[in-house]
Amino acid sequence: MVGATLGSKLVQVGHEVKMGSRSPDNEKAVKWSKENGSRASYGTFADAAAFGDVVFNCTAGVASLAAVTSAGGNNLKGKILVDVANPLDFSRGMPATLTVCNTDSLGEQIQRAFPYVNVVKALNTMNCVVMVNPSLVPGDHDVFICGNDRQAKEKVAEILKSFGWRSIIDLGDISAARGTEMILPLWLRLMGHYQSPNFNFKIVR
Ligand SMILES: NC(=O)c1ccc[n+]([C@@H]2O[C@H](COP(=O)([O-])OP(=O)(O)OC[C@H]3O[C@@H](n4cnc5c(N)ncnc54)[C@H](OP(=O)(O)O)[C@@H]3O)[C@@H](O)[C@H]2O)c1
Repeated sequence: MVGATLGSKLVQVGHEVKMGSRSPDNEKAVKWSKENGSRASYGTFADAAAFGDVVFNCTAGVASLAAVTSAGGNNLKGKILVDVANPLDFSRGMPATLTVCNTDSLGEQIQRAFPYVNVVKALNTMNCVVMVNPSLVPGDHDVFICGNDRQAKEKVAEILKSFGWRSIIDLGDISAARGTEMILPLWLRLMGHYQSPNFNFKIVR
């Protein structure tokens, strides 16, 4: 869902997008590609990683390390990986638990496993329809980014601006992913409270 939503928006704002999945001809990826025209294509995680200058990790958090590993460190070397995933474990029902927290995060795990990749954690604190259409939520509200490489964050901020984001808060290095991932239990509660995913966080100071 997140990959398809972000992929469609990226195509709309002018990029070429290859949707990766575990199999080379994933049914949903084939359908997504047909619906999104000549700038949209599909393949394996490795095909997508080799294709992109900027790679979005939109995989289930519990499987993200495996997915990025199958994408291939060499295909990702020197590139930006925007980590949108949350390390949520739904296997024991609700409420979901975080598979990593407090002293570590999924963003950091990916960065440690792939030191030559510029990991930027972004967009994971909201629903995907809000990610690509911030005006769905009235007024100003915030998207958080963090990562170790300044230029990579600037490039990701440019992409976010092209989606319509105005308030982009840079929280510093990738260890800030602990906070943006640990906000998910609150986000899930709020979704239950509002019975809708169309809300977001706003910092008032
Ligand atoms: N839903 C939202 O609005 C939202 C918002 C913020 C963040 N997120 C985060 O974004 C990520 C994607 O969420 P989603 O709702 O689109 O889908 P999802 O069902 O959590 O993830 C689907 C993706 O994960 C891959 N995957 C699943 N199991 C795998 C495994 N064992 N090994 C390798 N890859 C595996 C799938 O690969 P195949 O294509 O091969 O099946 C597919 O690419 C999650 O981490 C989620 O927490 C979601």
